[in-house]
Amino acid sequence: MAIALTLHILAAVIWVGGMFFAWMILRPVAVELLEPPQRLTLWYRLFQRFFPWVWATIIVLLGSGLWMLFAVYGGMGGAGWHIHLMLLTGIAMIAIFLHLWFAPYPRLGRAIAGQDWPAGGKQLGQIRRMIGINLILGLITVAIASGGRFIS
Ligand code: HEM
Repeated sequence: MAIALTLHILAAVIWVGGMFFAWMILRPVAVELLEPPQRLTLWYRLFQRFFPWVWATIIVLLGSGLWMLFAVYGGMGGAGWHIHLMLLTGIAMIAIFLHLWFAPYPRLGRAIAGQDWPAGGKQLGQIRRMIGINLILGLITVAIASGGRFIS
């Protein structure tokens, strides 16, 4: 349980922390300093590095989370409300990332390859909104996961 919980929390820190830095810190500075061609290319390169880590955190969160749920709590019946809610918000976050990965992300790559900056800007806008929603869901999930077990 100690190993599963530690891996679980590290995965949450990497995913949510990465989204926080991207959305709250890097995004306004990139808008301020860079023209669309440089800005779109910067973000696409950043996503090429960050998204494989997101895939890894999703596998670790699901693996460690479901293991704890079934091996430690004996399934949904033995788990507190905070774990039920975490499962729901966790699945929502994963679904949003899957849509992002298969839809606007490859479209952004194609727009950059074709130097179609208006189309690229539209795709980056969609990605920004999805990361914004996942950041809010992620912060709420961490709050539920850590504080929820003390509220019966
Ligand atoms: C997707 C399915 C998920 C499942 C099945 C799951 C399951 C669990 C379980 C069983 C625990 C132990 C809770 C306890 O002992 O009270 C836990 C803890 C935790 N989970 Fe999840 N989780 C999932 C997703 C997530 C996500 C997406 C995040 C964050 C974005 C997250 C963040 C945490 C944190 C921070 C803790 C530690 C709470 C603490 O010990 O204070 N989990 N999770």
